[in-house]
Amino acid sequence: MREPPQNDNPSNAGSTTEEDPPLALEPVRGLCGSTTVPGDKSISHRALILGSLSSGEMKIENLSTGEDVQSTRRCMDQLGVPIEGFGEELRLSGIGQGPLKEPECVLDVGNSGTTFRLLAGLLSAQPIFSTLTGDGSLRARPMDRIVKPLRQMGARIWGREDGRFAPIAIQGGPLSPIRYDSPIASAQVKTALILAGLYLQGETTFVEPYLSRDHTERMLRYMGADLVSDRSTVLLRGGSRIEARDIEVPGDPSSAAFLVVGALITTRSELEIRQVCVNPTRIGYLKILERMGASVELGRPREVCGEPVADLAVRSSALRGTTIQAEEIPGCIDEIPILCVAAAFAKGKTIITGAEELRVKESDRIAAMASNLAEMGVVVAERPDGLEIQGRGGVEAFSGRSWHDHRIALSLIVAALAAKGPSRVLGGDCMNISFPGFLERIAPLIES
Ligand code: S3P
Repeated sequence: MREPPQNDNPSNAGSTTEEDPPLALEPVRGLCGSTTVPGDKSISHRALILGSLSSGEMKIENLSTGEDVQSTRRCMDQLGVPIEGFGEELRLSGIGQGPLKEPECVLDVGNSGTTFRLLAGLLSAQPIFSTLTGDGSLRARPMDRIVKPLRQMGARIWGREDGRFAPIAIQGGPLSPIRYDSPIASAQVKTALILAGLYLQGETTFVEPYLSRDHTERMLRYMGADLVSDRSTVLLRGGSRIEARDIEVPGDPSSAAFLVVGALITTRSELEIRQVCVNPTRIGYLKILERMGASVELGRPREVCGEPVADLAVRSSALRGTTIQAEEIPGCIDEIPILCVAAAFAKGKTIITGAEELRVKESDRIAAMASNLAEMGVVVAERPDGLEIQGRGGVEAFSGRSWHDHRIALSLIVAALAAKGPSRVLGGDCMNISFPGFLERIAPLIES
């Protein structure tokens, strides 16, 4: 486990530094109007990777412009997949069954755990040699969760501490399909094994304790692969062709969560967020917020490229505390920091349990939120697997630290919108990892 932030040891340093000037933020009365959020990060990574493996040319619209997805794009480029255009619309030409190009240099995924783990699975099955690394945060995150099952399939992988940490080197080659009973619910582990199993003759089966986000399964089905899933089990029959099909990436529900909570905790908000992915494996946070008394309505439900999409309508709401159980965590894994902010603005106690995975995200998010909430004057207790937050309907003006973690930075910025005075966020620039232009996007919505 990494050092908690209280030790003042930023061993998890990401691509930005907290030495940049802090963001100075004033409280606002509300967020009003209609807006959108950037394309979903998880779907964007998968569109680039699966598109690269398809037979033919395809168009991707509304790809996330965040730094993490740019890392995937850069790596695919190094692996010999030509990708043209940027953001709104890009085109790529997949390699079909043909091998990827052996990269001439190290593949650097920056801060992106998804890029690292998905590519490790893919590259294990390719007849090429590759090395993968990333920034300080990435190099401190556990990689044995993918290395272990990939080695069971026969993958040849070397890395620090016997493959526990990046950098890792992979000599790809023939693998054998396996059934893997994963001890953790993880879409990254699931997708790594599916990507390794794509080229094999035989069935790769992945079973997880709870269903994690299922974008890979949906996109593979959309592109014609032979894959069946039932609750938390996925079965892939290897060797099927992936058809090139245009993909429109819906808005990122995890990014929308910052706007949703911003609208809920400010007093005069009426906000619409259009075109958001409402895949049930991603919107657990909306169910939790509803339980807390939030007014959020889903309008115009539709399906876009195999993913459910809707418009969200949010109004300022008086929130109450709740208990978040272990089985709910996979459905809101990336939203716990912003749910902590909602809990601080709620009245009553919120208990979060079964969230130990948060300790190995871009930062130790349990420790990072505990220290930031305490800085806001909130009574908070840190547990090994979660937090206990005594909500008192608001927070004091504060000076918070992002710990180089984009979701902590964005959560602090949202808390500052409704704090009792002007606040400061140190290291806020890392929000560009997932939500570039967040401040510019909310500026026209602000009621001051
Ligand atoms: C992701 C899966 C989740 C999530 C991450 C993105 C993905 O990680 O936290 O931000 O795109 O597959 P785990 O699979 O490790 O839970």
